[in-house]
Amino acid sequence: MPFDQAASRRRFLKYLSASPLLASSGLAALAGEGPAAGVKLPDPIAWAPLKTESLIKSPKDAVNVFDFEPVCRVNVPPAHFGYMASGIDDEVTLRANREGFLKFQLRPRRLVDVSKIDMSIELLGAKYPTPIIIAPVGGQRSFHPDGEIGVAKAAKAGGHLQILSTSTNTDVEEVTAARGAPIWYQLYATNKWDVAKAMVQRAEDAGCLAVAVTVDRSGGRNQETLFRLVPTDTRDCSGCHERGSLVTNLKRRAMYQGLDLSGLTHTQSSAMTWDFLKRLRDSTRMKIVLKGILAHEDAVLAADNGIDAIIVSNHGARSEDSGRSTIDALPEIVEAVRGRMPILVDSGFRRGTDMVKALCMGASAVCIGRPYIWGLGAFGQAGVERVLELMRLELYAAMQQVGAPSIKHLVPNMVRRAT
Ligand SMILES: Cc1cc2nc3c(=O)[nH]c(=O)nc-3n(C[C@H](O)[C@H](O)[C@H](O)COP(=O)(O)O)c2cc1C
Repeated sequence: MPFDQAASRRRFLKYLSASPLLASSGLAALAGEGPAAGVKLPDPIAWAPLKTESLIKSPKDAVNVFDFEPVCRVNVPPAHFGYMASGIDDEVTLRANREGFLKFQLRPRRLVDVSKIDMSIELLGAKYPTPIIIAPVGGQRSFHPDGEIGVAKAAKAGGHLQILSTSTNTDVEEVTAARGAPIWYQLYATNKWDVAKAMVQRAEDAGCLAVAVTVDRSGGRNQETLFRLVPTDTRDCSGCHERGSLVTNLKRRAMYQGLDLSGLTHTQSSAMTWDFLKRLRDSTRMKIVLKGILAHEDAVLAADNGIDAIIVSNHGARSEDSGRSTIDALPEIVEAVRGRMPILVDSGFRRGTDMVKALCMGASAVCIGRPYIWGLGAFGQAGVERVLELMRLELYAAMQQVGAPSIKHLVPNMVRRAT
C-alpha cells in the first residue's frame, strides 16, 4: 500500500494521546514529557526525547542524527517503524549498545597538526574515503519509496561502502548500478543450500566484492516494541505481505525471485556450522565476512577457517538480549585476532566519538544501521545523505579532537576504560 504521510502522522499523534503504552511503559518521553523513573526506554528515546512540536522540517535543519528519528516515526507506518526500532524482550542490549560507549573515555593528544584529516581506509583490497559503512537493512522501501536505490545514491555521494541485505526490495544489480561501485552482499543462508548458493552466485555476477554471512539470527525472537505497535497500524497490509506461506510472503524480496523455493522453511539458518562456510568457500571467489561475532573464541575460529573479515555485531540488539554491547565485546576480539583479519563493528554507533573509540580499539571500520533508516524514513535519499554527512563531520571533528590526522593515528592508548 502506498504511503499516506499525512494520515500516518494523524494516526501516530492519535496513538500517542490514546496509547496505554504511553502511560505504562515510559513512552511518555515520546510526548516530550521526559522519561519516568525506572522504566525501560528504547534507543534513542532516552538520548533524544521526541518533541513532536519541534520536528526538523528538512535534512539541513538536523544538528545530529537523532533529529531524524522522530520525523521517521511520524512519517513511517507504525508497524514498519516498530520493526526498525525494536530490540528483543527487555531491550537491555539495545540500551547497552548506547550506554557501553560511556564506559570508555578518550585520551586526546595535543600539538599534532590536525588541520587536515584523512579518514580513508583500505578494506579487503578496496579503498574508501570513509570508514563508515552502510549496514544491511532489509526491505528499505517499507520506510520510503526511495528504498535501497536512494540509500545507494546517498552512499555514492559520500563514498561509503554499502552492504545489501538478502531481504532487499531491490535487485542487487540495480543497487550496484546506483551505487556506481561494487558493494557487499549480506547472506541469510536459509535452510536450503541451493537457494544460498544461487543468491551468492548472483551477487558475485553483479560484481559484489564480499559476501557477509549473518551468523546471529539462529533462533526466534520476541520483538516486543514491534508487536505492540503492529495493532496500532490500521492499514490493510495484504497488498504487500501475503502471509499465507513463507514463499508468498517473499514476493517483494528481490533476491528470491526466480529461485526454486520448494522446501524453504526459513529465511535464516538455525543449523549453520563451520561446514557451511567451508562449502561456501569452495563455491565463491568473493571474500567471506562473518557478521554477528561476539566471542573471541569464534573470532579465532573464523581466522583459523580462512574467513576474510568479521563484523562484531549484535544485529543492533535484534538477535539476542544478552545485555552486552559490542563496544564491550570488541577489545577481547581484537586481542585474540592479533591482526589476522580486519574487524568491523556495529550496533549503537551514532556519534563521531563512538566511532573513534572503536577505531582506537582496533576496529578497521564501523557499520551503521538505524540512523540512515531514520534519514530514509524522514526524507528519503536526502535524509540518508544528511545522516551520512553528519556522521562524517562528527568523525572528522572527533579525530581532530583526539589529535589523529588519519585512521592509523587512532591507537589503543587514546582510549581508556572509565574507572
Ligand atoms: C530494520 C532493520 C533491518 C535489518 N535487517 C538486516 C538484514 O536484513 N540482515 C542483516 O544482517 N542485518 C540486518 N539488520 C542489522 C544491521 O545490519 C546492523 O547490524 C544493525 O542495524 C546495527 O545496529 P544499529 O541499528 O544500532 O546501528 C537490520 C537492522 C535493522 C534496524
